[in-house]
Formats: sequence, structure tokens, C-alpha cells
Amino acid sequence: MNREGAHRRSFAKARQVVSVLAAERRAPELATRVRNEGLTRLRKDALADLHEAVQRVDRENVPGVLIEAGTARGGSAIVMAGAKRPERVLEVYDTFGLIPPPTDADGEDVHERYKVIESGKATDKDGRQYYGYVEDLKSVVAGSFAEMGYPLESNAITFHEGLFEDTLHPEGPVAVAHLDGDWYQSLIVCLERIEPVLSPGGVLVIDDYEAWSGAQRAVDDFLARPEVNLEPVWKSRLHLIKPR
Ligand SMILES: C[S@@+](CC[C@H](N)C(=O)[O-])C[C@H]1O[C@@H](n2cnc3c(N)ncnc32)[C@H](O)[C@@H]1O
Repeated sequence: MNREGAHRRSFAKARQVVSVLAAERRAPELATRVRNEGLTRLRKDALADLHEAVQRVDRENVPGVLIEAGTARGGSAIVMAGAKRPERVLEVYDTFGLIPPPTDADGEDVHERYKVIESGKATDKDGRQYYGYVEDLKSVVAGSFAEMGYPLESNAITFHEGLFEDTLHPEGPVAVAHLDGDWYQSLIVCLERIEPVLSPGGVLVIDDYEAWSGAQRAVDDFLARPEVNLEPVWKSRLHLIKPR
């Protein structure tokens, strides 16, 4: 890398660090609560950026529903619920059980992780039972939404249980989609089905670009398609914005 390239890269990195620190500072109280309750592994800065993405589409009247694909214990979706106008629809997609197996498009990191999950020995970060082993996870997550102040029925929130491949068929416009499905196939199916109906000014928030090899590959493959026009914006996570 030449010196100019190195400077540009370190400047971009420094800007990213500053924006992460700023997001940490303005994280809503709800982000702290869901983290304290062990409902998410997302850092506060990622939750703050997600919160802001939802508030922005309300402020700017970007039409469409909100989607979370990949919910686990519900923490980040609860933050979306807390950020949105009550009437804005939030559609939540998950198996509410075990994550599906990865494919050849995922790297060794993913396959190693899946081996542990499959063996029944995975744990959550705080040593608790891994969410994928929780019995009737869907009811547990619905209960968490209610406990945090966002019961599903009165907040226009719907759960879609099953594989994204089977359940995710958005028809109308989408304003914000938080994509947190970890593996290549899970990501690519979401990108392919949501991007065509993403509103101008709408955003896809990619949780796992820097976390899992398959997720990164899915995003790179998708962005390389000539018909796809999304503007990447680096916050604490990668945000892909549809130009107006
Ligand atoms: C990392 S967790 C989500 C974490 C969550 N957003 C949070 O706040 O901590 C990933 C979730 O994606 C779900 N998932 C991954 N691929 C899926 C697929 N193809 N269909 C349905 N659910 C999927 C898994 O079941 C798991 O619950």
C-alpha cells in the first residue's frame, strides 16, 4: 500500500472509532436495559446506530415496514420497537429454534461454530443456556417484548417463525431491515428479497459483515451485481442505503 493509501485508510479508521464512541454516548436507555437483561450480544454502539436508523426513517417519512431477520432473544428487535412510531409495522423473522446449518459458501470459522452449536455445548456469552436450545423460544421472546414495554399486538409487531427461505416474502416497501442471520445463505436470501422493495432512503443494516466469513461474502457478492445500487456507509456496523 502506498503512503497516501495508508493515510486514507487510517483516517477512515479514525473516523470510524470517533463515530463508534459517539454512538456509545448517545445509546438509548433501552439499549442498556436489553443488554443488562441478556437479550442481545450487540454492543451499545450498534444498538444506538440501529435506533437512529429507525428514528431517521420516521423523521424523513421514508415509507415501509421495519424488518428484523435474525432475532434470537429479541434484544435488537426490541430496540427497533422502542425507536419506531407505534403504528410503523415491525416484522420479525427467525426459526425461534436452532440456527440452520451453514453451507460450502461459509468459511471454517462458521463451520467450527456450528459444530459446537450442533453438539449441544454452545453457551451464550454470559454462560447462560444458548438461546437456540431454549424451549418455546418464540413465547419467551414475545414475553421479553412485553416486559420491556412493547407487547406485540399493541405495537404492530408480528413474528414469522421458520426459515427465511420459507417465510420472508416482503411485498410492500421496506424502510429498515436489520439483517442478523450470520451465515451466507441466510444473508443472501434476505438481500435478494428485501433490496428490490427497499424504499429510496431506506437502509439495510448488516450486523455480521466483520463477524462471519459467509455474511461478508454474501454482501460482497450481492453488491457486485450490476443491478444493485446501494451506498455503503460504515457506522458501528455496515449500513447499505438505497439512494433517493
Ligand atoms: C446472532 S442471532 C440474532 C441476534 C439478535 N439480533 C440480537 O439482538 O442479539 C442469529 C439468529 O438468526 C437466526 N437465523 C439464521 N439464519 C436463519 C434462517 N435462514 N432462517 C431463520 N432464522 C435464521 C438464528 O436462528 C438466530 O436466532
